[in-house]
Amino acid sequence: MGKNKFENLDKLKILPNTGGNGQKIYIETYGCQMNVVDSEVVAAIMTDNGFSISENLEDANIILVNTCSIRENAEQKVRQRLNDYKKYKKKDKGILIGVIGCMAERLKQKLLEEEKLVDMVIGPDAYRDLPKLVEEAGSGQQAINVLLSREETYADINPVRLGKNNVTAFVSIMRGCDQMCSYCVVPFTRGRERSRDPYTIIREVNDLIAKGYKEVTLLGQNVNSYIWENKENNRKISFASLLEMVAKTSPDLRVRYSTSHPKDMTDDVLHTMAKYDNICKNIHLPVQSGNNRVLENMRRGYTREWYMDRIRAIKKILPGCGLSSDFITGFCDETEEEHKDTLSLMKWAGFDFAFMFKYSERPNTYAERKLKDNIPDETKSRRLTKIIELQNKLSLESNKKDIGKTFEVLVEGVSRKSDERLFGRNSQNKVVVFDRGNIEIGDYVNVKITECTSATLKGIVV
Ligand code: SAH
Ligand code: SF4
Ligand code: F3S
Repeated sequence: MGKNKFENLDKLKILPNTGGNGQKIYIETYGCQMNVVDSEVVAAIMTDNGFSISENLEDANIILVNTCSIRENAEQKVRQRLNDYKKYKKKDKGILIGVIGCMAERLKQKLLEEEKLVDMVIGPDAYRDLPKLVEEAGSGQQAINVLLSREETYADINPVRLGKNNVTAFVSIMRGCDQMCSYCVVPFTRGRERSRDPYTIIREVNDLIAKGYKEVTLLGQNVNSYIWENKENNRKISFASLLEMVAKTSPDLRVRYSTSHPKDMTDDVLHTMAKYDNICKNIHLPVQSGNNRVLENMRRGYTREWYMDRIRAIKKILPGCGLSSDFITGFCDETEEEHKDTLSLMKWAGFDFAFMFKYSERPNTYAERKLKDNIPDETKSRRLTKIIELQNKLSLESNKKDIGKTFEVLVEGVSRKSDERLFGRNSQNKVVVFDRGNIEIGDYVNVKITECTSATLKGIVV
């Protein structure tokens, strides 16, 4: 089926070997899972061009910081780090420092000129240009490429895995985002949404299986709008079809995906999930707020009722499916009553897990231009504390219900608290801890749950 396509793609590989002269690169990654894969794409591009990747900062000739702009504090953390590296560079003048990722795209030239923080600035769609830019920076020229692309998906590049385990890997299926939620910087830092050729996705998954990986997570900002048009036969491949193609690669491979957008989450995806045992029963469905006026201001494209209907569909088609969400507190004009609507929705849905944030105004977004960031910081914090407390309660309740149940767990590593214990995840994405025995990382084991906290399940292997 895809054979010819792969051959074509191999020809497409346009990476000139410019010769890195064995220079070593240290990559530091901030931000979301997308950035994790992007760092692996960068590692592939650089190693193909004669550079090598170093795990130690001290050995490195080049430092690349892959950055995030999602909230003000994410950027502050990176700035601090870049200032430390600037001092470090004073001691070792030969070293080159580059900013890649979302902050590079947002701040562009500023990082080189006004702030004089780094030697190179490379946006998320310009990584193929890195070997050339390193060369330019090395000869004292300004090295910057922040052009966004409508086509780039790095489809032909096989990421060099930088993760600690070789059990679970991220696979990028699309880039960019067209949603334009009013608070969000991603459409500006990542550009237009585009889907990756499914045959290259399957090729990457097969390669991971051959290397012994047991789980893949398919990544996109809104995976439900994945669409690939096969020009030869005019057939369209939707996210549900892609999910099915990936699930069919091997029954021993677990398949996850992130992130779903409630507006586009259709029943066909849920039915595909129900059909394949190896597609994990967990859905991350960020709702952000439980109030219709706030959702409208956020330009999320759905209502509370629509979201509730989606949750009902999940519970009906996939009983026992793990559910998680994201919340923002203190968005422009959010009243106390509107905040309470978020709390009531959380209780109604009974989420197993959530990421929770205080609203952070981002330059150039619709919210920054047209709405007022008028909720005092104390109020944002108080509301955040409220939802965190509630979520902890819900997580504990959900975990308690699992006591006595037995789950299949994919073992990912040694528990942080004790060498004698291992941890892994069940299909619902809950962390399960158990005694090591003679179990290996990468094994599937059945664990009977005996106790829990709000964050983890503990049990015995049966
Ligand atoms: N594409 C995904 C997630 C993108 S960012 C989605 O739409 O769900 C991850 C989370 O960061 C978002 O879900 C949101 O909860 C949070 N976030 C994004 N912009 C933010 C901002 N300006 N302030 C606070 N939180 C924000
Ligand atoms: Fe941001 Fe919305 Fe796109 Fe998610 S869907 S990345 S929140 S614009
Ligand atoms: Fe951050 Fe960019 Fe991801 S802003 S959350 S690294 S897409």
